[in-house]
Amino acid sequence: MTSTHAQHSGYGHNYKELALSQANCQPRLMRALIVGIGAVGGVVSTRALCAGIPVCLATRTKETAARLRTSGLRVSGVGGEGICVPGEVRPLEEYMDREKFDLILLATKAQDALDVSSSLLDLLSPSGTLLPIQNGAVPQMISEKLGKDIVLGGLSNLGATMTEPGVYRQTNGGHLLIGEIRGGSSQRATEVQRLLGKAVEVRTSPNIVGAIWAKLLLNCSVTTIGAVCAQTMRQYIMSDEGMQVFQRAYDEALGVAIATGIRPQRMIVEPIPPGWPHPGMHREDYSAWVSQIVEAYGDIKPSMLQDFERKRLTEIDFINGHVTRLGMTVGKPAPVNRALTETVHSIEQGKIEPGPRRLRELVVA
Ligand SMILES: NC(=O)c1ccc[n+]([C@@H]2O[C@H](COP(=O)([O-])OP(=O)(O)OC[C@H]3O[C@@H](n4cnc5c(N)ncnc54)[C@H](OP(=O)(O)O)[C@@H]3O)[C@@H](O)[C@H]2O)c1
Repeated sequence: MTSTHAQHSGYGHNYKELALSQANCQPRLMRALIVGIGAVGGVVSTRALCAGIPVCLATRTKETAARLRTSGLRVSGVGGEGICVPGEVRPLEEYMDREKFDLILLATKAQDALDVSSSLLDLLSPSGTLLPIQNGAVPQMISEKLGKDIVLGGLSNLGATMTEPGVYRQTNGGHLLIGEIRGGSSQRATEVQRLLGKAVEVRTSPNIVGAIWAKLLLNCSVTTIGAVCAQTMRQYIMSDEGMQVFQRAYDEALGVAIATGIRPQRMIVEPIPPGWPHPGMHREDYSAWVSQIVEAYGDIKPSMLQDFERKRLTEIDFINGHVTRLGMTVGKPAPVNRALTETVHSIEQGKIEPGPRRLRELVVA
């Protein structure tokens, strides 16, 4: 690391803090790696480096690493502007057999996270923590593979976009939510919160799996339906078909969650609708609950629709696809979630276009 890096990224200050803490026999600073320097990973990395946290960055390719070394990192939007020069940025494989980390924040998309997670074990120190923050049930899946002692559950309510590698925008005042997959509180969750909380807002949850599922229920309904019909929820919920598809997709996913012993955790809106599992008997209360969801999420352009527009693969297999598969294992068929999954695959493959007519097909699923 050069003195230029120290000035730009605040490293000088941090290493002083590290040395002082060691002299006072305080616990040393966690050594952290961020894997996946895309939208979310880029915002967290830039804000961490600007705050003087000496995180190392891992990209997928050596070309991106070289580009970030040259361009530096820049963040704008909610939370303010920040510019920094990364101290260490390499393609992931270059860290192998060289370094160990106390914390790895895994910020790739879902499929990449599952593909790469096992190899990250070699990069963790003996009591190191892997923190995946993907949408869907990815943190749970990775913890089933690697163990709950290694994996700390996480999700991102932080909205972010990447214009090009090195240029990031924070699009809301959201936070990272972290917690033990087995539930309850832990010292390591507090330590991770303390470290990453210097960069972005980090909250802890004693029921992270419930929080992950509360987000998943909304992704299965609000986001996916909006994406396939190319509308916001506020628009599609005005039609009978839109309301029916929303209600069935949400109810199926909630039924699967409850059948597998999950207690969805309240985020902005209570995740269990009034009168559930017979919301039809409490029509006015149910309508008021849907209105709360519309107020909270109804104007957001679905991120999956942006994936369609950019011809990127979606995370549908970890959203509605996951609910459908899990439903089969607990005897809870989820035909609307299955139909949504198939519709999204057909759009990805260019066989059909997103648009309001998709609702008419889904309503008969
Ligand atoms: N963006 C948001 O506002 C937001 C909000 C909430 C939740 N999330 C969730 O957060 C996760 C990340 O989303 P994102 O929007 O940040 O995705 P993204 O912009 O696509 O970033 C993912 C990054 O991971 C990199 N990557 C892939 N495989 C890798 C590997 N093996 N090693 C190192 N880097 C690798 C990709 O590099 P290449 O481009 O070179 O492949 C890309 O830069 C998703 O699960 C998403 O659902 C996102």
